[in-house]
Amino acid sequence: MTPSDVKATLSFSDGSPTMDLPIYKGSIGPDVIDIRKLYAQTGKFTYDPGFLSTASCNSTITYIDGDKGELLYRGYPIEQLAENCDYLETCYLLLKGELPNATQKTDFTKLVTNHTMVNEQMQFFLRGFRRDAHPMAIMTGLVGAMSAFYHDSTDIHNAEHRDIAAIRLIAKMPTLVAMAYKYTVGQPYIYPKNDLSYAGNFMRMMFATPCEEYEPNEVLVRAMDRIFILHADHEQNASTSTVRLCGSSGTNPFAAIAAGVACLWGPAHGGANEAALNMLEDVQRMGGVEKIGDFIKQVKDKNSNVKLMGFGHRVYKNYDPRAKLMRETCHEVLDALGLHNDPIFKLAMALEKIALEDDYFVSRKLYPNVDFYSGIVQRAIGIPVTLFTAIFALARTVGWIAQLNEMIGDPEYKIGRPRQLFSGSTPRNVAPIAQRR
Ligand code: CMC
Repeated sequence: MTPSDVKATLSFSDGSPTMDLPIYKGSIGPDVIDIRKLYAQTGKFTYDPGFLSTASCNSTITYIDGDKGELLYRGYPIEQLAENCDYLETCYLLLKGELPNATQKTDFTKLVTNHTMVNEQMQFFLRGFRRDAHPMAIMTGLVGAMSAFYHDSTDIHNAEHRDIAAIRLIAKMPTLVAMAYKYTVGQPYIYPKNDLSYAGNFMRMMFATPCEEYEPNEVLVRAMDRIFILHADHEQNASTSTVRLCGSSGTNPFAAIAAGVACLWGPAHGGANEAALNMLEDVQRMGGVEKIGDFIKQVKDKNSNVKLMGFGHRVYKNYDPRAKLMRETCHEVLDALGLHNDPIFKLAMALEKIALEDDYFVSRKLYPNVDFYSGIVQRAIGIPVTLFTAIFALARTVGWIAQLNEMIGDPEYKIGRPRQLFSGSTPRNVAPIAQRR
């Protein structure tokens, strides 16, 4: 960390001594004030629920400028990666810090490909779930269960174990997501086919059956690969912070990633793509484009609890650069499939237009986020809505691993242990039960 010449001085109106706080400069982005000694020197904590002003770590992986609408993986703009690289190159970049050359790409692809099958026992574990279980419930269980199947890669403090766990997780997530899907529709699992691309193999495991081969359509494979790239990492979001916090206790990598999957499930985070599509279907049932006005009224009503899902972002207050790329892919896919007249797509476009012009959304800087479009793309590809978040988890796994490994390798890393402002009861005595009201 580079110290700044400037220091922050904290002073108190009650005359307590002031305290100088060091400031560190990032390579880009806001400086941070180092408050690590604050409690020891003043007996006070800082208070920042939701981490609105708190940098929880020092990272070199992903940078977001929410005002500019900029997203960089290891310094590379997301637009360039989406145009010029595939998902496995992006994984290599996130894990190792540099893009692979041709030989490194071939070797990495081979390594991942060699790990795509899962332990055959896992299918029996999967069979314990109800057929109608939500895929994210299944994924949380399956990813956590990997620690019971791959004992030789569970020591988070062993760099070799971490490397093998990383490759296993990246390689097996598509297989597990496809298995979760096949299980819910009652079809046999399809084993991976290693001469296909990462995205092509996933789509084949999803859509082929033992009696009918699936020929991946290149436009759709590219769209799926782009979904993976755009979701691969996103700085210290809720699920990534969960993975870091969980891993900080020294638990095994599979357990830490399972915690990330669980966090991602929430509708304010990864579950937004499913929630956005469900919302579109609800509006369609209410009467479609004609009823958008009524729906927007509900969204604006503070007492209704209705949100425009797929809109807004904690960090992007200009536009989500991933949304721009996903919108482009959305049009490509709908063109390729001749789906531009699909009522849900028409409704989405009408909703997008109205929201972008409405003062409520404009004044609050609420723009469509990546999930608004990724849901439409996935639906067009034939992915069931309940699987959307599992696909997000598949793609984000590499980011979680890169962030987890960065934390473990950081000499300043400590178990995460936030403190609190306590406003509950002061000490009191337990009364005998007969005297309690
Ligand atoms: N629809 C209607 N109003 C909204 C929305 C929305 N989607 N998002 C924010 N607002 C309003 C909110 O009510 C508040 O209004 P007011 O100032 O009058 O009280 C204002 O905008 C600021 O909202 P906030 O809750 O302070 O914003 P936040 O930064 O805490 O929340 C968010 C960000 C993503 C949780 C929120 O925008 C949201 O719930 N969006 C819908 C869910 C969604 O699409 N999430 C996916 C995020 S992208 C994928 C990912 O990275 O996980």
